[in-house]
Amino acid sequence: MKILVTGGTGYIGSHTVVELLNSGYEVVVIDNLYNSKIEVVDKIKKITKKDFTFYKGDVCDKELLEEIFNKHKIDATIHFAGYKAVGESVEKPLMYYRNNIVSTLSLCETMSKHNVKNIVFSSSATVYGIPEILPIIEKLEIKHATNPYGETKIVNEKILKDLHISDNKWNVALLRYFNPIGAHPSGLIGENPNDIPNNLMPYIVKVATGELKELSVYGNDYDTPDGTGVRDYIHVVDLAKAHIKAIEWTFKNEGIDAFNIGTGHGYSVLEIVKAFEKVNKVKVPYKIAPRRKGDVASCYANSNYAKEKLDWTSTYEIDDMVKDAYNFAIKN
Ligand code: NAD
Ligand code: UFG
Repeated sequence: MKILVTGGTGYIGSHTVVELLNSGYEVVVIDNLYNSKIEVVDKIKKITKKDFTFYKGDVCDKELLEEIFNKHKIDATIHFAGYKAVGESVEKPLMYYRNNIVSTLSLCETMSKHNVKNIVFSSSATVYGIPEILPIIEKLEIKHATNPYGETKIVNEKILKDLHISDNKWNVALLRYFNPIGAHPSGLIGENPNDIPNNLMPYIVKVATGELKELSVYGNDYDTPDGTGVRDYIHVVDLAKAHIKAIEWTFKNEGIDAFNIGTGHGYSVLEIVKAFEKVNKVKVPYKIAPRRKGDVASCYANSNYAKEKLDWTSTYEIDDMVKDAYNFAIKN
């Protein structure tokens, strides 16, 4: 079985390519390296001791997609490629709508032409907007997100739903990720943002390594046990493994469905800081800062549906996540 992975040198994509190769799949990756580095290709090969084909190019480029689908007998695709910075999407909505929507259209049009109708799509808990109930279940009505990035996820889900309605041979797994953190235990691949990080874990890592002075904890007056924001952090390797299960699920011709991919446990910002300090034996200086605009108090998943339908559950604990995040940072 041959899987085309878009965005396969990115953070989640690279870990998923490792799991695909380890599970015996053949892999073709397309990535324009907008937010990842070419070195990742060799690192994946080093971890797995297996080979795969890499194309540097844009998923919006239908000529290149055509070339790939002509050359390789693709059985299914996993579509990671896209922009993901919430704040930037507010500043540059057109850039986000263009890349995140056109890439999906180009990919699905080319798949359709070549009669490839199995796809796993990277969606996000962001589609739930401000969660009405906790833990979040998939049946909640999707209304609107709190930013353009989130809207692109909702629109992409809708495109894929309409595609399935038009032709029920399409099998679509919409994976709604919660908060992926951590890195491959080898320390060879992980998350390494170039700019000042927006997300909690990469920020903590840069404070721990001394690159940044202190963490700003955005608000300690939320309605949560210690007043700081609560999220469902999931180890990126667990998340990557969910994609293997999702690919297998598409091969069973089950149609379209959405799955929450989280651990089901919520941890506060201060709990994460304390776990990081304890496990890695480093200090993470922090100060309490005002709330960040658009943040919700708590967001965590009910992932029972993924367990039932995909036979997937998370296995890594919070201590593994903070250990592997720091291990990657100090090795790179
Ligand atoms: P990432 O930026 O590390 O990886 C995305 C990859 O796609 C990058 O390597 C980038 O170069 C590539 N890319 C972007 N646009 C492209 C295009 N038009 N053509 C070819 N390549 C392109 O991001 P990630 O964290 O690995 O996220 C992967 C997917 O998961 C994204 O769709 C993201 O929105 C989604 N997601 C991520 C998170 C998270 O917290 N990391 C949470 C929910 C959903
Ligand atoms: N936080 C801080 N200080 C920081 C960064 C974050 O206190 O410097 C806090 C936030 O206020 C929040 C928690 O840490 O309470 C987690 O924040 P992140 O930015 O790491 O993650 P979010 O839950 O805000 O957003 C992430 C992704 C989004 C995605 C969403 C739901 O960035 O793309 O999860 O999946 F939509």
